[in-house]
Order: sequence, then structure tokens, then C-alpha cells
Amino acid sequence: MSTIDPVETRSSRRRAREAFELAFSARPQWIARAPGRVNLMGGHVDYNQGVVLPVAVELDVAVAYKPRQDRLVRILSVNFDQRAEFDISELIPGSVSGWAAYPAGVAWSLAQVGLAVNGLDAAVAGNIPIGGGLSSSAAVEVAFALAFRQASGLDLPELELAKLAQTAENQFVGVNCGIMDQVVSACAESGSALLLDCRSLEFRHVPLPTGLRIVVLCTGVERELRSSEYNKRRRECEEAVTRLAAVDPDIRTLRDVEPEQLASLTRHLPAPLDRRVRHVVGEIERVYLTTAALEHGEIERIGELMYASHRSLRDDYEVSSNELDALIELARQAPGIVGARLTGAGFGGCIVNLVGAALTDEFVASVSQGYEIAFGHRPVAYISDAAAGATIQPVDR
Ligand code: GLA
Repeated sequence: MSTIDPVETRSSRRRAREAFELAFSARPQWIARAPGRVNLMGGHVDYNQGVVLPVAVELDVAVAYKPRQDRLVRILSVNFDQRAEFDISELIPGSVSGWAAYPAGVAWSLAQVGLAVNGLDAAVAGNIPIGGGLSSSAAVEVAFALAFRQASGLDLPELELAKLAQTAENQFVGVNCGIMDQVVSACAESGSALLLDCRSLEFRHVPLPTGLRIVVLCTGVERELRSSEYNKRRRECEEAVTRLAAVDPDIRTLRDVEPEQLASLTRHLPAPLDRRVRHVVGEIERVYLTTAALEHGEIERIGELMYASHRSLRDDYEVSSNELDALIELARQAPGIVGARLTGAGFGGCIVNLVGAALTDEFVASVSQGYEIAFGHRPVAYISDAAAGATIQPVDR
């Protein structure tokens, strides 16, 4: 187990811009930025082709850059205090490692589909805790995807950029993530959650009720097992599909299992596959129910669904941790709470809470106090509204 460093909460844009000026003794021409996210509902559903309901948050990654005429990329990472350099023509998976694999992967994945990608000089800074379950990786990928698109004069919509960013992470970085994080980082709208169908990739914006704020509470504990356990869950889902397809050939993904079929179908599955499937099918249903509850302003119902989701992630999907469960119990009793669940892949990381806007400070104080008594340190808290997706803007002269 390792502890996540406290994050720098100053503006990512300003830090990236200042770092660029120092590193390259010139002004950057553009700043691309992309947000992190929480997942309001739909945990471990994207790679099962289901529907998810993530929200972009006000934490972000910014890339201050200047396009180059050649294919060289030179990047300074403010967070890692390191520089990296690569030639886009020479990239192959494995040729760049560490943090620079993310921007390199994006350039590689654009080039892989036959696009002519130009180089750039860049400084990157972010305030999303790394490895904390708030999608700092997707934000880095999407911010660089926007930068490469502009620097290369490419005509690609945001959704295509999100798909190429996912390809970068899957095939270049070697992390088997789904599509949710990249799409919400690229396509979110301020004030709304994004209802995304991970099969068709159609999405729509679902406004959040006014008077509520998103409070993210981070355990500060990251489990090293995260990626191996994540991949194990993916394999379990694939195995469940293979077994279920033998019973019903129409089942090609867990998305194809209807809630009414659940009881009869899970009889054909050994433990823990039966529980994994019950989580995924129930969670997809909860995404639709949460969307309806948001649209009808049924605040209490949203809370019930969030707690039900957390229980399912804890008991059936088994991706929670003691710290996350403790945060949920403390949140449930704190002032202003509407609902809470773990967000991201789990195995440590953060919980997302919906809290009445007037009571967020009391809420954070109450949970922090209880958590400190139990674990000896306070959770890191972020209070955010639903933020907009990635943007790019010229730097003022
Ligand atoms: C990680 C992955 C996502 C998604 C979530 C779990 O954040 O990157 O694609 O699978 O876990 O919902």
C-alpha cells in the first residue's frame, strides 16, 4: 500500500504555462485542458458494454504548448519534475515508459490510424491525484489528444479523440481500461452528468439538480493490486459471458442479460461469477433508474441507488476496501448527505458523495473527524460542481 501525495490545488493552466516559459524560454501558444471525473453510477460496467453515468469534476490536467514543424515531442512534467523527448515516427509500444507513455501513446494512436501528427514542445501540469481513481490518466490523454489535433490541423470530433485515447492506454501504455473516462473527459457539459452507452457510444447530458454539490473524499490509500484485480474482474466477466452464451446464444456481453433473466441464468454460473454478473446487470439498471431520478428531481431515490451501488460493488463485485466502506458509513451519517458510493475502479481511492450545497463544509468536517479517529489521518476532500469537458484556447499575448 502506498499513500498518495497531497495534490497541488493551484490552477493547472497557470502552472503549465509558467513551467513552459521557464523550460523553453518562450511563450506557449495554446493551452489544452481536460478534467478528471467521478462516476455517479455505473461502476465496472463500461467494459461490459453497458451504460454509465459519470460526471467531470473541476480537477484537471493542462498542457501548455507550442506546435513544432517536425515530429519531435519535448515535454516537461511539472508533477513529476521530469522531461521526456520522443520522435513520433519512432514510437512503438514499449519504447516510452512512465508518465510520458500517455502522451506518446496518444501521438502513436493518432499516427496508427494514418493521421499525419506534428510534434510539439509542451509543459503538463495537473491537480488530479495520481492513482486516486479520478482518472488522471484519461485527462492527460485527452488534453494531449486535443493538443495534437490542433498542432496537426486534424479534423476529428471529440468522441473519436476519446476512442484514440483509450487505444493509447490499452495498446501503448498497456492498461486495459474501458471507454468511460476518456469520453466524459472529452465530452462532458458543465452542470450535467453524461449518460453514455458504452456499446453504441451514444451519449446525452443529464442535468444535475441545483442545490447539490459533488464531494470527493479520498482515502489516500492506493492498492498496488488495482490493475491486476481490475484485469481479473474483466476476465471473470468474459468467462461468465462464455458460459452464458452456451445457455443463450444471444448473450454476447453482460449488457445482453436482462434483469428478469438474472435468477434463471446465474444458476449456470459458479461463484464468484454469479455475483459478478448480478452486480453488472443490477448496476446497469441502477444507471437508468438514477437518470430517471435525476430528471424527476427525486433526491432521496438518488441516494438510495448510490448506497445500493456501493453495497453491490462491495459484496458482489468485491472491489471496495475497509477505508472506502468506513468513509461511506461516516458519510451516511453526516449533515447534508444525499448519497455516496465508491468511484473509479475501487481497491482504495475515493468515494463520491452528493451533498446539499449549503452543508458541504459541515459534511466534510464531520466525515474527516470520524475518519481520523479510525485511521489516524484525514481524507483529502474536493468539492466540485459538474464541470465541462476538455477545452483548448490560445494563450493571450
Ligand atoms: C477505471 C477504468 C474505467 C472503468 C472504471 C470502473 O476507472 O479506467 O474504464 O472500467 O475503472 O467503472
